[in-house]
Amino acid sequence: MHLAHLRLRDFRNYARLDADFAPGFHLLLGDNAQGKTNILEAVYLMATLRSFRGVGGAQMIRHGQRGYFTGGAVIGAGEHEIKMFWSARERNLSLDARPVKKLADYLGVLRAVVFCTEDLQLVKGAARSRRRFLDLLLAQTYPPYLPLLQRYLRAVRARNALLKHRSMDEAALESFSAELVKTGNEIIRVRRELVPGFSPLVRMAYRRISNGAEELRMEYRPSVKNDFAVELAQSRARERTFRATLIGPHRDDLQLLLNEKSAAQFGSEGQKRTLAIALKMAQAEFLAGVHGSSPVLLIDDVMGELDLKRRSGFLPLLEQARKTSGQVFMTATEENWPRELGKDLRRWRVHAGTLQLE
Ligand SMILES: Nc1ncnc2c1ncn2[C@@H]1O[C@H](COP(=O)(O)OP(=O)(O)O)[C@@H](O)[C@H]1O
Ligand SMILES: [Mg+2]
Repeated sequence: MHLAHLRLRDFRNYARLDADFAPGFHLLLGDNAQGKTNILEAVYLMATLRSFRGVGGAQMIRHGQRGYFTGGAVIGAGEHEIKMFWSARERNLSLDARPVKKLADYLGVLRAVVFCTEDLQLVKGAARSRRRFLDLLLAQTYPPYLPLLQRYLRAVRARNALLKHRSMDEAALESFSAELVKTGNEIIRVRRELVPGFSPLVRMAYRRISNGAEELRMEYRPSVKNDFAVELAQSRARERTFRATLIGPHRDDLQLLLNEKSAAQFGSEGQKRTLAIALKMAQAEFLAGVHGSSPVLLIDDVMGELDLKRRSGFLPLLEQARKTSGQVFMTATEENWPRELGKDLRRWRVHAGTLQLE
C-alpha cells in the first residue's frame, strides 16, 4: 500500500501542498522547524484520525486560518481518495467522495505505523498509552473491534454519570452494568488472544536492535482477574466512594519486562528507547503479516538518534517494505541522515512549509 498523492491546505505551516509519491523510500531532509514532522503528522492523521503528537484538531490549523484540509490518494488493493476537513464548527471526512458513516469502514484504507520520540511514553508513561497502542493494533487488524470498544466506552461513561448522582437510578445502573460486562468480556477475550501472536514479534525485534543482553517479555494484565460480573458487584462499595467504574478493560495494562523486571521502573533510558522502537517494529510486522502488505512507515528523527547497531535493526523492515511495494517516509537533518540506507531513495527538501524533490 502507498500514499500516491498528498494534498494539504492550511495544515500547520503548509498553506498549500500537493505532492506525488511513488512507492519506496522517501527521505525528507531539512533544518529544524521547517515542516518535516508536520508531513508525517498529516499522513498519520489520515490513517488513524489522530495526531501522534497527542493534540486536537485546533492546533493543526495554520495560524490565523479557520480550518485545515488534508487529503490524498491511496493505492493498495484498489485506489481510494481521502478528504478531511476540520474546523471548530465543521468536520468532514469522505472516502471516494462519500461521507464516512462508520469509522470501522474507513480505518483500513490507509495503514500507517509511526516511529517518533513520543513512543517513549509506551514504556515510561501511564497504562493509557499502552492501551491506546493495543487498541490501535486491534482496530487495524480486526474490524469489529472499534465498534465494540466504542460500545464499551459508552457504557463506562453512562455508568460513571449515574454513579455521580446522589440518588442513583439502580435499574439504569443494572442495565449499563450488563452492557459493560458483555462488551467488556469480549474486549478482554480479543486482547488476550492478540498477545501470544504479537509478543514474540516484540521480543525478536528487541533482540535484533539491542545488544541481546536481556530478554524481553510482554504480558497482558487485565483489570478483571476472573469473572467480570462478580468482580464488578464486589467493587460496588468502592464505586460509591470514588463515584466511577473502577474495574474493566478501561483499566487494563500491558506489562513490559526485561529479565522479568519492569522496564518502566528498572530499565535504562537506552533500554526504554529500544523497547519503544521494538514495539513499533512489531506493530509493522504484525500488520504486514495480517494484511499481506506493509503499512506505510513514518520514521521521525529516530534513526538519527540511534547507533549503527540499532539502525541496522531497521533494515529488514525497510527491505520488506521495498519488496512488497510499500512506502517509507523518513525525516532527518542534513547532518544525521543515515547514509548506509543506500542510494535507492528519493530525497525531498523541506523548507519553510514547502517540499521539493531534489
Ligand atoms: N498550527 C500551526 N500553524 C503554523 N505553523 C505551525 C503550526 N504548528 C507548527 N507550526 C510551525 O511548523 C514548524 C515545525 O514543523 P515541524 O514539522 O515540527 O518541523 P521539523 O522540520 O523540525 O520536523 C515550526 O516552524 C512551527 O512554527
Ligand atoms: Mg521534526
